[in-house]
Amino acid sequence: MDKTTRPLAVIAAFGASLVVGLLVTFWLVGGFKTVTAPASIGGAFQLTDQSGQTVTEKSLLGKPTIIFFGFTHCPDVCPTSLFEMSEVLRAMGPDAAKLNAYFISVDPERDTVAAMKDYLSSFDPSLKGLTGTPEQIAQVVSGYRVYAKKVPLKDGDYTMDHTALIYLMDRNGKFVKPFDLKRKPEEAAAELKRYL
Ligand code: NI
Repeated sequence: MDKTTRPLAVIAAFGASLVVGLLVTFWLVGGFKTVTAPASIGGAFQLTDQSGQTVTEKSLLGKPTIIFFGFTHCPDVCPTSLFEMSEVLRAMGPDAAKLNAYFISVDPERDTVAAMKDYLSSFDPSLKGLTGTPEQIAQVVSGYRVYAKKVPLKDGDYTMDHTALIYLMDRNGKFVKPFDLKRKPEEAAAELKRYL
């Protein structure tokens, strides 16, 4: 190594150690957690059910919860899922009271509290329909990583493309997994009872 390259090598080595040091520090303070940990699902929200009661993330505590996101103008997927949820709640018998079952609107413009009340009268009475302001809905949609998009129709009306998962949350309000409703209601009810 001659006299001109030696200082450069020293500077390069110093620079490299600085970068390594910064990376280690970043890792130690948890900077990589967001990259390696699975994305959390849930979080804070404040909505109103069909009888005008406020429901927040704290309402999830102490009971397992199943949540379905949709909208009352949905032609097929939503009514089918709500019918299946109703069948499972019926199959749970008195234990249905130990579970939260929520239908959360992704269409706050049309799904007023009154519209939700009217719509839910066709399903199991323990199903709660939650709606809110567009901002409140945007917050819960984002927290639960729901896909929901307005799709204009030819007649000037619109429909919504949306996630059709059933979210299963445990008694601590933590997301467990997507819950499978495509089976015998008694079978689904038996699985839910394990989370009570
Ligand atoms: Ni739908």
